[in-house]
Formats: sequence, C-alpha cells, structure tokens
Amino acid sequence: MSAGAIDATLVGELSRIVGEAHVLTDPEITAGYVVDWTRRFAGSTPLVVRPGDTAETAAVMSVLAAARVAVVPQGGNTGLVGGSVPLGGEAVLSMRRLNVCEPVDELATQVTLGAGVTLADAQAHVAASDLSVGVDLAARDSATIGGMVATNAGGINVLRYGAMRAQVVGIEAVLADGTVVSHLAGLEKDNTGYDLGSLLAGSEGTLGIITRVRLRLHPTQPERATALLAFESAADAVRAAAALRRSVASLHALEAVFEGAMALVSSHLGLAPPVGSLANDGAGNSDGGAAWLIAEAAARTDPSDELGTAVTELDDLVVDAAVALEPAARQRLWAFRENVTEAISAAGIPHKLDVTLPAARLAEFTDGVEAVITAVDPEAQPLLFGHLGDGNVHVNVLGPGGAEPADEVDGAVLRYVAEMGGSISAEHGIGTAKLAELHLNRTEAELAAFGAIKRALDPAGLLNPNVLLP
Ligand code: FAD
Ligand code: MLT
Ligand code: ZN
Repeated sequence: MSAGAIDATLVGELSRIVGEAHVLTDPEITAGYVVDWTRRFAGSTPLVVRPGDTAETAAVMSVLAAARVAVVPQGGNTGLVGGSVPLGGEAVLSMRRLNVCEPVDELATQVTLGAGVTLADAQAHVAASDLSVGVDLAARDSATIGGMVATNAGGINVLRYGAMRAQVVGIEAVLADGTVVSHLAGLEKDNTGYDLGSLLAGSEGTLGIITRVRLRLHPTQPERATALLAFESAADAVRAAAALRRSVASLHALEAVFEGAMALVSSHLGLAPPVGSLANDGAGNSDGGAAWLIAEAAARTDPSDELGTAVTELDDLVVDAAVALEPAARQRLWAFRENVTEAISAAGIPHKLDVTLPAARLAEFTDGVEAVITAVDPEAQPLLFGHLGDGNVHVNVLGPGGAEPADEVDGAVLRYVAEMGGSISAEHGIGTAKLAELHLNRTEAELAAFGAIKRALDPAGLLNPNVLLP
C-alpha cells in the first residue's frame, strides 16, 4: 500500500498536529529522505512527517492509519539494507526530533532517551556520569537510538556487552493504529509477560514506532591498549582471535580487515598499514598481509600488560604487531578499520552482505567466498572485514569501476553461508536487501509465526511494508 490517499485535507490535519514546518511535501526537500546511505536503494515519497514527541507520533499514526497510508519510520538513515527509505511510495515518519536525553539514573545506571537521539549525543550525555553505552559503531554521529534498537545494531563491542537488544531495559512505542505502549521502569527483574522491548529490537520498523528507550549503561573503561596484528592466513587470524578471547579478560573489541579491504582503505587514507605488507609483487604473492586484527583491551586500570602478554603468547601465529596506548596513536591504528565502509563507498556502490559463521568454518568461508563470487560475476571484487570476535564478516562486493556487481552474487554468497550453518544477517537486518533469502535461515513455521505477530500488531500492514517479512 502506498501513500496514494494523501491530499490537502490530510496534510492540513497532520500540520495541525506537528506544525506546518514539519510536514514536508516539496520533492526538493523530501529528496534527502528517499535515498539510503549506500545510494543502492532509492524511492520516492509524497510526504515526510517529523513529529516532536510521543503524543504527536501517536496522533500522526492514527491520522495516517485512518487514511490507510503506509509508513516508513526513519532515524538517521544510516541503515545498510534498504529498510529506511520509501521504496513503494510510502510516507516517511522521521523520528529525529525526538531527541531528548533524560537525566541519567545514577542509582540504576540507566538512562531514558528519545528515539531520535544520536549515538554520539547519547555517549556524550552518559559520559558526564562516568558511564557508557554498550553499543558503539562508526555511524555514531548520525545513527539514532530508535534506529539502533529497530535494527538490533551490533558494532565493535558486542563481545563484551552484547548487541542493542541486550541494552534495552524499557521501551515506549506507538503501534500502527496510534496506540501508545510504554514500559519504561527499567526494573532489572520484571517477569510480567511478553518483553515488548525484545520484540521491537530487530523488528526494523515493521511492528511499531519506537519513541523512547531506556538503556542499561556500563562503567567507562578509560584505560586502553590497542594492538594491530598482521597474519599470513585467515586461519591464523581466526586461531589468534580465539586465543585472545580466552586470555584477555578486558577484551573490548576484536575486529578484522582482510587483504582487499586493507589495500582499499590504505589507499583511501594515503597510508601504508603500520604492520604487515600488502601483496604486490606483480605475481600476486603475499609476503605477509592476508588478514589484520585490531584487538583492544579496556579497563579501569591499565590493561597494556594483559594485552601485551597475550600478544606475545601468540608466538609465530603473528607476522608483525604494533601496540598503541595513547589516544592519538590508538586512533591511527583504528583508522584502518573504522574507515573501510567510507573507503568502499568512495569507490562505488557495493552490495553489502553481513554474515556470521560458526567459528569452525570462519577461515574456510573467508578463503572460499571469493571463488563463490567470481563464479557468478568474474569481474566482481570482494572486500572482507568485520567483527571477527563475533564470527561476523562483512562481505562487500563491488563491480567493475565501482558499479554494482551482478544481483545473483548476493544469493550465491548467502546460500554458501547458510550451507555452512551461518546467519545471512549478523547485525544490519533483512530490510529489502535480503528479503528473498530469509527462508535460508528461517523455517516455514517460524515465518508463519512472524506473520501472525505482524498481523496482530499491524493488521492493515501499514508499517514498513517492503521490509523483513516476505
Ligand atoms: P535508519 O537507517 O533510519 O533505519 C534503520 C531501520 O530501522 C529501518 O528499517 C527503519 O524503518 C527502522 N527505524 C528507524 N527508526 C525507528 C524508530 N524510531 N522506530 C521504529 N523503527 C525505526 N550497524 C551495525 O549493526 N554495526 C556496525 O558496526 C555498523 N557500522 C556502520 C558504519 C557506517 C559508516 C554506517 C553508514 C552504518 C553502520 N551500521 C552499522 C548500520 C547502521 O548504522 C545501523 O543499522 C543503525 O542502527 C541504523 O540507525 P539509524 O538511526 O540510522 O536507522
Ligand atoms: C562496520 O562494521 O563497519 C559496519 O557494519 C558497516 C559496514 O558493514 O559497512
Ligand atoms: Zn559491522
């Protein structure tokens, strides 16, 4: 269902709720809401509505529901699976104005945040209380708390704190018909029925509009040590990752960049990797850099001895290592991981596949996936990186000259993942991009249960109709 029923009367009704300035219909202004971050997914909309709080969101939804107008909820529009843009002409409900950070509850170590608060603003807000948000990711300046819950975002600290769902201790949301459901007390023990926070986490805007979130917070870990390690093979990197997970109690992040992605980000930054070297002897022989790991330890007291000892114990698994303690030096190491997404985006429009493998199949996958891709599209270039500590590999694929690769690449890679017992979406969600492959990971009975939940909460199918559910 599209937003075909929109007319001047409806626009007038919405303007009375949110103010004329926050109902956008001019295509030049709405253009910023219809293309996703990757530029792969572009749609159109007759209407963007920007409510300012929960009551306005509820009133807007009851007007849109009465007119049977389909809606795409949108936060920072940094999602990577085409779920945040109106691909079927839906109205866009932009949640960015719900940006209130309530005072930190110091006794409970929790905070309630508006759905439109950016991660960076949330981090700054709670840092004043010497606390931190459990999820961190490179899109922090734009990604919103509501969008992060809706996608169950992962990021670089999942191995320590879990993904976004694990941070949620309370939720407020508006259902498709405008009903408000609110459960924000944040009691750590609360077995009073279904957990709507858990249900909405990862629901990708299909079950309700998240308006406020209560997050559990964590003590800051200000003392940090970061190592960049180079490996001759993916198998060595996987073995080292397993060893570091066992030996470093303060392990905070364990990230990987594989050779093609390291070559691209190095050239994007104009810097050679500080350890290991890129294969470039003209014959394609590598002299040391097949994979790199970034391992970061973080604690209240200096963790550098703990990390240093663990790195030494890796012995000849590692080709070369650099350890940094000062923020600027650590940031120089992190730049080779944090800028990969931007480097790929500067090179073209990739297909972004975001998968988890069982630990025992990880190296086989990273070694084998290039052949799977080039068998379908011989000119496609795979770029691998990700959160190795979680078994999560980002397989980005560019076509020649930065064009998109053949569409069939996606299915081939995701079938390969499923055959190995992996997940076709580790952290970005299903969105539109992976809708056709959801059956690889979910049985018919599971999909029927998903459909029943959707129909119970959104019987007219108004919320994000092109996303998640086949
Ligand atoms: P949007 O992109 O606006 O929306 C995403 C989905 O959530 C859509 O389906 C939308 O309809 C829905 N939605 C948004 N707000 C609401 C709401 N209030 N209520 C209901 N539904 C809503 N993701 C990771 O998991 N880990 C990473 O490490 C990571 N790194 C990234 C790095 C870069 C440089 C970029 C560009 C993206 C990265 N992402 C990562 C992806 C993205 O940042 C996350 O998916 C993030 O959670 C999206 O938040 P958002 O506010 O931008 O949501
Ligand atoms: C990352 O880990 O950098 C993100 O998930 C973004 C991406 O996959 O490009
Ligand atoms: Zn990621």
